[in-house]
Amino acid sequence: MLTINKKIVCLVCLLGLLFCWTCSSANILTTKHNLSVEGVGSIRADSENRVCIFCHTPHHATSVDPLWSRTMSSAVYNLYGSTTLVAQPGQPTGTSRLCLSCHDGTIAIGMLGGGSEMIDMAGGISTLPLGASHLETDLSDDHPISIAYDSNLVMLRDDLIDPMSLPNEIRLENGGLLQCTSCHNPHKDPHGMFLVLSQQFSALCLACHDEAGWSVSTHATEVSLADSGCQNCHQSHAAPGPQHLLKGALEEQTCISSCHNSAGSGSDIQTPINEFYRHPVEYANGVHVVGEDPDTAEKHVECVDCHSPHRVNHANAPLDSAPEISGRLTGVSGITAEGLFVNEASYEYEICYKCHAGNDFVGQVTPLRIISTTNESLRFDSGNPSFHPVEAKGKNLNVPSLRPEYASYTEDSQIYCSDCHGSESSNKATGGTGADGPHGSIYPHILIAQYEQDRLIPYAFSNYALCFRCHDPDALFTPGVTTFGKGVNSSHRTHVIGFDIPCSVCHDPHGVPSDLGGNEINNLHLINFDLRFMDADAVYNSADKSCTVSCHNQGGMTPGYHSYK
Ligand code: HEC
Ligand code: HEC
Ligand code: HEC
Ligand code: HEC
Ligand code: HEC
Ligand code: HEC
Ligand code: HEC
Ligand code: HEC
Ligand code: HEC
Ligand code: HEC
Repeated sequence: MLTINKKIVCLVCLLGLLFCWTCSSANILTTKHNLSVEGVGSIRADSENRVCIFCHTPHHATSVDPLWSRTMSSAVYNLYGSTTLVAQPGQPTGTSRLCLSCHDGTIAIGMLGGGSEMIDMAGGISTLPLGASHLETDLSDDHPISIAYDSNLVMLRDDLIDPMSLPNEIRLENGGLLQCTSCHNPHKDPHGMFLVLSQQFSALCLACHDEAGWSVSTHATEVSLADSGCQNCHQSHAAPGPQHLLKGALEEQTCISSCHNSAGSGSDIQTPINEFYRHPVEYANGVHVVGEDPDTAEKHVECVDCHSPHRVNHANAPLDSAPEISGRLTGVSGITAEGLFVNEASYEYEICYKCHAGNDFVGQVTPLRIISTTNESLRFDSGNPSFHPVEAKGKNLNVPSLRPEYASYTEDSQIYCSDCHGSESSNKATGGTGADGPHGSIYPHILIAQYEQDRLIPYAFSNYALCFRCHDPDALFTPGVTTFGKGVNSSHRTHVIGFDIPCSVCHDPHGVPSDLGGNEINNLHLINFDLRFMDADAVYNSADKSCTVSCHNQGGMTPGYHSYK
């Protein structure tokens, strides 16, 4: 009884609507869903002139509402899934199944249910031809549907609008289910693609999604990006990167392919990330997980490990007040100096410590020094006898070689990891047009400038350009100015210029961990000998201002006791 009543009510509605639509401009007749012989799209009937019949019929309707005329698909669908999805979508239900009775491409467009005859389509078309509108039975690359969008879900996901506050255009089936018809209205097409809201400025997506920091993000505000918004990176259907509906099949491609390349509108990251020494974003695909515990994650690195695509902005960029992050690094998780996980890093080094502290993503240290570890958090610890001032101000109150006039560094300064690790063509390195950041470099260890450390080599300024960005070579080589000297000699001059010895043979660029035996006698002033040049029993004595070095592994250096007092 109930169904019959409902059908009658619907029929009345149907006729009412039909009447209404004949006088409305935004009506189905001018859309691709007018599949009658008079239709405007390329897919239309051979001779059938009724419009509604492809989907509804007052006679011989199937048992499906609203007076559905079509045979339903019996396909079993692959469903959307991701590491962050809270709702557990099952097989499609409700109106989504109505749409899929054409759009999964398994049922002929003219195939009506209830024993009706098949409607012939022009050009002999049967099922929906392959193309964008043919969604297939694989829905794993489509926006999730047939899920309950309720207050429960919003409690578990703080990036969704409360369903009570959705704009009127957004319809949830039976008051709570997200279906195809939440985004599309099959009868009206005022915004294109039968969408219920415009895609401009991400209006449709933002009706339901509330990504923190989005409104001030460069990706939302930059003139060339604002209009397409979310769609710059996401695709609602047939997304090449199914998880999170990304436009790139590999994570980094979403960023690089359309924007961050030499021809794109964003800074060129493709060039540095393909340098010989680089952060290998191509190394692992599908391993990075939103909110992962970096200490137990498998080795990987992705753009999104250092940047939040929804939040990046220009605030305080480029990095210039160490160790504070800039807007480009905002909203990214990190590991603090104390080893604690934080959802939002405050300091650049905290982002690096996700992968260069407690875990072992680098695996081995080169060069091996008397005290060696891949745990950079131990090396930069402010409790160490000496360290470059990344986590905290340095210990040495007298570093005469610092170049205040040139780079405004003093004993009070702190520096970034990316003051030493970056691209050689970056703005920071050369004042050039290349992108800042430790993406890749022609120099080993992704160093921002040349740093010879593997062999004895006749002195040239360029060999140690890295150190000379902040330390004045004239000061280092002038007796009486540098602290490494004896009487009228500068021992830096004697060693570096006289004996071709690179800085790295004596100095550790990071710091010497007290946890691993670093101490105030042997390891002040970043002294930590390179074992390729020195034997393990080489001793530096800062109190005595002397070195006792035994057999040398490479020629040119005299064994014995040297004092530079
Ligand atoms: C391409 C398929 C298709 C065509 C053609 C179509 N409809 Fe629909 N119609 C649907 C779907 C799917 C629903 C259910 C989802 C919804 O409410 O949007 C629906 C729902 C309806 C409803 C119920 C509305 C409601 O809000 O519950 C009415 C009335 C209706 N259609 C009338 C018509 C009329 C009249 C025509 C012909 C002018 C027509 N439809 C053509 C697919 C179609
Ligand atoms: C009777 C079959 C049929 C049903 C049912 C149907 N569609 Fe379509 N739809 C089509 C055809 C045919 C096209 C045109 C495809 C083309 O031109 O390649 C189309 C096109 C579209 C387009 C693309 C419009 C454009 O401008 O390119 C969207 C979006 C769409 N349909 C959504 C839906 C949704 C949502 C539903 C369910 C509410 C639905 N369709 C139900 C047959 C159907
Ligand atoms: C969360 C919103 C949302 C949901 C849910 C959704 N779509 Fe779409 N759909 C879109 C948007 C946005 C576009 C336009 C994409 C573009 O402009 O490239 C689109 C485009 C389409 C197209 C045109 C093909 C294309 O990719 O250009 C079809 C067909 C379509 N949708 C059908 C469906 C069907 C069928 C369902 C349910 C199974 C569905 N949509 C669910 C948002 C949605
Ligand atoms: C009608 C409301 C609605 C609209 C409109 C909408 N979404 Fe969604 N979206 C949701 C809901 C609800 C979920 C499921 C969240 C969950 O269960 O964790 C979701 C899931 C997603 C996911 C997968 C999230 C995950 O954790 O795997 C992505 C990506 C996404 N939406 C992007 C978009 C984009 C891009 C648009 C605009 C084209 C859009 N959405 C429009 C409601 C919507
Ligand atoms: C610049 C590219 C870009 C833009 C623009 C963008 N996203 Fe994303 N989005 C991503 C990437 C990349 C991921 C995957 C993040 C990860 O793996 O850490 C993602 C993940 C998501 C997720 C699921 C994971 C999560 O963080 O919960 C949702 C939902 C989402 N985006 C929605 C949106 C919406 C809505 C918009 C527009 C308001 C948008 N995105 C704009 C790149 C982008
Ligand atoms: C971005 C600027 C910067 C770069 C590049 C740099 N340094 Fe330093 N360095 C500093 C600052 C600032 C201090 C002062 C720390 C202090 O007061 O303890 C310092 C201090 C030192 C010290 C003295 C540490 C102590 O505890 O006595 C040594 C040795 C040193 N640097 C060596 C080097 C070497 C070798 C290189 C090249 C690999 C280098 N530095 C590159 C900024 C830099
Ligand atoms: C003063 C310049 C400088 C700063 C600042 C600096 N590095 Fe380095 N880094 C180097 C040099 C030079 C090497 C080459 C290895 C060596 O000489 O011991 C290196 C090597 C590395 C390596 C390779 C593995 C290893 O341990 O040898 C990693 C990883 C690394 N640095 C990460 C970092 C991180 C993370 C930071 C910030 C917390 C940082 N670096 C700060 C100069 C620097
Ligand atoms: C290891 C961490 C890390 C990874 C991985 C990484 N970046 Fe960066 N990126 C940075 C840092 C640090 C900066 C410098 C920020 C500043 O100076 O404000 C930066 C800067 C940038 C900039 C601005 C550069 C400029 O000068 O205009 C863009 C754009 C960028 N990154 C995109 C990407 C893309 C795309 C990827 C993936 C292919 C990526 N990044 C991978 C750390 C990273
Ligand atoms: C999500 C993980 C991740 C983050 C975050 C990360 N790195 Fe890396 N880093 C890697 C991986 C993986 C490698 C390649 C290791 C290998 O294959 O030897 C690498 C390599 C390096 C190297 C070259 C090491 C060598 O042996 O020469 C340097 C230097 C480096 N990273 C510095 C940084 C700095 C500085 C930061 C912070 C701005 C940072 N990394 C953040 C994962 C990460
Ligand atoms: C043979 C070992 C050795 C070599 C090679 C060496 N140093 Fe040193 N350096 C020292 C010692 C020892 C001290 C500590 C002097 C003191 O204060 O007693 C020192 C101190 C420093 C200081 C802090 C004092 C100051 O003058 O500012 C800096 C900076 C420095 N070295 C940079 C460099 C650079 C850059 C190179 C390469 C161009 C280099 N050193 C090569 C042994 C060496």
